[in-house]
Amino acid sequence: MDSILVTGNGPLNGQIPIAGAKNACLTLMPATLLSEEPLTLTNAPRLSDIKTMTALLQSLGAEVSALQDGQVIAMSSHSLTSHVADYDIVRKMRASNLVLGPLLARFGQAVVSLPGGCAIGARPMDLHVEGLEALGAEIELKDGYLHAKALGGLKGAVHEMRFASVGATENIVMAATLAKGTTVLKNAAREPEIVDLVECLRKMGAQISGEGSPTIEIQGVDRLHGATHQVVTDRIELGTYMLAPAMCGGEVELLGGRMSLVEAFAAKLDAAGVSVSETQSGLKVSRKNGRVSAVDVVTEPFPGFPTDLQAQMMALMCTADGVSVLEERIFENRFMHAPELVRMGANIEVHGGTATVTGVERLKGAPVMATDLRASVSLILAGLAAEGETTVSRVYHLDRGYEHVVRKLEGVGAKIERIKGQ
Ligand code: EPZ
Repeated sequence: MDSILVTGNGPLNGQIPIAGAKNACLTLMPATLLSEEPLTLTNAPRLSDIKTMTALLQSLGAEVSALQDGQVIAMSSHSLTSHVADYDIVRKMRASNLVLGPLLARFGQAVVSLPGGCAIGARPMDLHVEGLEALGAEIELKDGYLHAKALGGLKGAVHEMRFASVGATENIVMAATLAKGTTVLKNAAREPEIVDLVECLRKMGAQISGEGSPTIEIQGVDRLHGATHQVVTDRIELGTYMLAPAMCGGEVELLGGRMSLVEAFAAKLDAAGVSVSETQSGLKVSRKNGRVSAVDVVTEPFPGFPTDLQAQMMALMCTADGVSVLEERIFENRFMHAPELVRMGANIEVHGGTATVTGVERLKGAPVMATDLRASVSLILAGLAAEGETTVSRVYHLDRGYEHVVRKLEGVGAKIERIKGQ
């Protein structure tokens, strides 16, 4: 397994291009199942999760080709050969469950493995099931697979979700585009990735309104046609790299960044003493003075502070002036980066869903281990600002969500290299 060697090397200066959003692409790709005409995505990120979704769609009989070094994904599910999403693929990537809604809508049946738990939590699918059953699907759990049927087709309904789940919103909205009648989805998730999905579905002929608000209304149509859609900028990659100059000093411009994608996050950075300003080509970030101040963070569904930036924010708070309390309200076990940061000299106490970070002057480089996607990049950030060398092992986690990390950080002056594993 590869590892990444980072050496604290002072302020960072220059530009980092931000890629298309992994979590938008992972819901846009299954949308191809809704139509027999081609769907093409541009500005797609080059990530292992995208390769996993490609393999899953191909296992269903869809044609998927990555063009222009993976930045364009051309898909066609003209004739599918299977409606079974196998455990082997789903267990590797939970987002595989996003084929459930589209398969049900197009073919009236789907067999999708439950994803199983992952490092950050149990991650059940009860909210997906409740929403699709509201549209008339019959779903039963057998041998670890959800067996879903809607042989007479799905029917529009009014449904209120108990929690604003991102994936459940995406599955229900995609299914409702081909249901008979109108669906009103209440307490829907409002993430920019959902807005991006709806914009793509609308280009395919779907009748949808209210995306980005808690209530989304979908008028079912008989069929959807093909489209070409540009994947929205990745707000989590954006937020991650905004922290690089915040931690190391210097000034970095994040190309493609937009304030509207990271408002709650940018507000917290401002309160901590980090300046964020919009430029013609993105967001420019620098520290206002020598040391950032501690701020408290609570993770919430969008537009609140994103759970996917909690680990990275914790890395910043490790050397902030004061005490920061981070409360993780979305996942039940998302502090696995904390003990690794403690190995680097951080002062962190975790009690249940709350981590209390008392800032220290500077972290010290150490060998640390990545445990999940966002934890891995928080360790890279910590290593950039630490004294000495940090080796982050198990970086396959990183490859799931961050393309060309070494190249992007080297480009702004970081001392970082990838060490090939044995
Ligand atoms: C999406 O996961 C993202 N993944 C996650 O990003 C992100 O952390 C999460 O949304 C929250 O923003 C993709 O978009 C591919 P949820 P998802 O359904 O849809 C519970 C990353 O790092 N829940 O909003 O799975 C669930 O257990 C990944 O890129 C149920 O209880 O998130 C969790 O505690 C990690 N029942 C909470 O809701 C359900 O049926 C939020 O889950 C579904 C979810």
